[in-house]
Amino acid sequence: MPALEMKDVRKVYGSGEQAVVALDHVTLTVADDEFVALVGPSGSGKTTLLSIAGGLLRPTEGIVRVGPHRIDEYGPKELTRFRREFVGFVFQGANLVPFLTARENLLVVSELAGADRRHARARADRLLDELGLGGKADRLPAQLSGGERQRVAIGRALMNEPELVLFDEPTSSLDSHLGEQVMQLIRSEVKGRGTAAIVVTHDRRMTHVADRTVEISDGRLVDQGA
Ligand SMILES: Nc1ncnc2c1ncn2[C@@H]1O[C@H](COP(=O)(O)OP(=O)(O)OP(=O)(O)O)[C@@H](O)[C@H]1O
Ligand SMILES: [Mg+2]
Repeated sequence: MPALEMKDVRKVYGSGEQAVVALDHVTLTVADDEFVALVGPSGSGKTTLLSIAGGLLRPTEGIVRVGPHRIDEYGPKELTRFRREFVGFVFQGANLVPFLTARENLLVVSELAGADRRHARARADRLLDELGLGGKADRLPAQLSGGERQRVAIGRALMNEPELVLFDEPTSSLDSHLGEQVMQLIRSEVKGRGTAAIVVTHDRRMTHVADRTVEISDGRLVDQGA
């Protein structure tokens, strides 16, 4: 079963004269252990596509399936549960909870999902370690650099071993060496446990780590990369 299937998805923001067609008949399938890079100019619909795939936004038209979940038919309650249990997100600008430490920012999502505490703590520390933040688990976001905060957000997205992880520019504030390291970590998480990932990146140097690169322009997929 594919991790993600989008069929003829349209997203129109607003209505009448103000209507913006952000996605136009987007059809995309991502296999259950696939790592897809998504590229395209600013305003082309990348964040909108991720938001719909992760159940944060409803499509105006079309079918969206994540594993067995027909999320375009879900109501708000079902979507909240779906997001908590099955998807991980890293948003543009990585929002952490400011009064929680790095480790606690990871643990809070596993508590929401009702995971075992000891197991969760071990996983949080292992992820922070792999992200090069081993010595900084007890720091608050304000005591970390921008790139470090971004890595905490990546750890948080991977924390619950989601079926689908969605990254919006996860490497934008990292230098290219660290950026590639983070992409490799995402790759090993995807390949190691049958998680699928879509990573938005402006950086063409990052795309070779992905299995394929999908290109979007003006709300349309112009290249599926396969
Ligand atoms: N809430 C909104 N209301 C109205 N229009 C919106 C809204 N969000 C996005 N748009 C418009 O939809 C289009 C796609 O936006 P989107 O955020 O998906 O682009 P993007 O590819 O992520 O761009 P960037 O690389 O700058 O982040 C743009 O024209 C944008 O102005
Ligand atoms: Mg965006």
